[in-house]
Amino acid sequence: MTLASEARTLLVARDKTLLEAMLAEGLAMPHDCKVGSCGTCKFKLVDGRIRELSPSALALERDDLSAGYRLACQALPRSDLTIALDAPLLSQQTVENYSATIVASPRLCPDIINLIVELDRPLSFTPGQYADLSAPGIDGPRSYSFAFAPKAGPARQLQFHVRHVPGGTFTDWLFGGERIGTQLMVSAPYGEFHLKTSTAPMLCIAGGSGLAPIMAILQEALANGANRPVVLLYGARSQAHLYCLDGIGELKAAWNGPFEFRPVLSEEAPDSAWDGARGLVTQQIAGLLDKALCEAYLCGPPAMVDLAEEELLKAGVSRDTISADRFLDRSSAR
Ligand SMILES: Cc1cc2nc3c(=O)[nH]c(=O)nc-3n(C[C@H](O)[C@H](O)[C@H](O)COP(=O)(O)OP(=O)(O)OC[C@H]3O[C@@H](n4cnc5c(N)ncnc54)[C@H](O)[C@@H]3O)c2cc1C
Ligand code: FES
Repeated sequence: MTLASEARTLLVARDKTLLEAMLAEGLAMPHDCKVGSCGTCKFKLVDGRIRELSPSALALERDDLSAGYRLACQALPRSDLTIALDAPLLSQQTVENYSATIVASPRLCPDIINLIVELDRPLSFTPGQYADLSAPGIDGPRSYSFAFAPKAGPARQLQFHVRHVPGGTFTDWLFGGERIGTQLMVSAPYGEFHLKTSTAPMLCIAGGSGLAPIMAILQEALANGANRPVVLLYGARSQAHLYCLDGIGELKAAWNGPFEFRPVLSEEAPDSAWDGARGLVTQQIAGLLDKALCEAYLCGPPAMVDLAEEELLKAGVSRDTISADRFLDRSSAR
């Protein structure tokens, strides 16, 4: 495959997507969902034939399609190719493949497990990043954020907080039986979500399993001796869906500065004894002071992250102090 815009040629295996090939070469091809939903990985097919895993029309506008744009995460090569990209590619950490074994999967709350896997060799990553997990017999990988910051160097044992998405192929399989001992393929590290070097107060907003990379980032900040004020807003459905409370308590106790944890429940029974916040987690943003001075870290369902970003921008937070990671899946296709 020739990247016309980069004057560079890569070998792409017949069963690898163009995105996988570019990332494996350490090229920072933009992408978000890797499932053909977001349109971030679009490229222009100048010459050659591809097979599409899902139609580019699910994520691209008609004008883009007729101009020859397609999705790199959904394109398998079927001949020599020449492609063009709209912006120059930067270099990034090289992604590698690892063999992994599921060693435990304790339940954290009714719909989230802590998936613990052991790799064939240690892996280096930055807290906030994610890995792609592939399981036997399941078409395509799924992305999961590392749920911890490694204490000392590269890690052989990884943890992911995986939420069951009813009707979802990978999570129906994972939650549908005993999976300990099953071999997975892990490809990592991916992603740009990470702790920034700043002393500004941190406003972290997480929904569901979006807590995973936020915990990893906070653990890293703690290990770096941060004394920045933190507000952690966490959106869950009910008290039963609150998880990681011990881990959050430990972070708070060890933090060298003010640390406010505010759980917000959206579907808690009206007559329950819960005296904390109710409603959508994003409704809490308006009442927070000094938002304009904060650095924000948002993670979870795309609709929650979009709404939180909108609220923060309205409140005067500058766009470049907002870091966001959206857990896009196949239902995000337009
Ligand atoms: C960068 C990143 C990090 C992530 N990190 C995490 C994490 O740490 N924890 C976590 O729990 N999740 C995370 N996710 C989400 C995760 O990757 C999966 O998308 C999720 O687990 C669902 O996978 P699945 O195979 O079970 O569902 P899928 O089979 O992908 O389906 C998802 C939903 O879409 C519906 N659907 C399927 N096909 C279509 C279609 N064509 N049109 C419309 N709807 C469709 C399904 O019915 C289902 O409801 C992350 C996603 C990204 C992009
Ligand atoms: S990364 Fe390819 S469509 Fe989202």
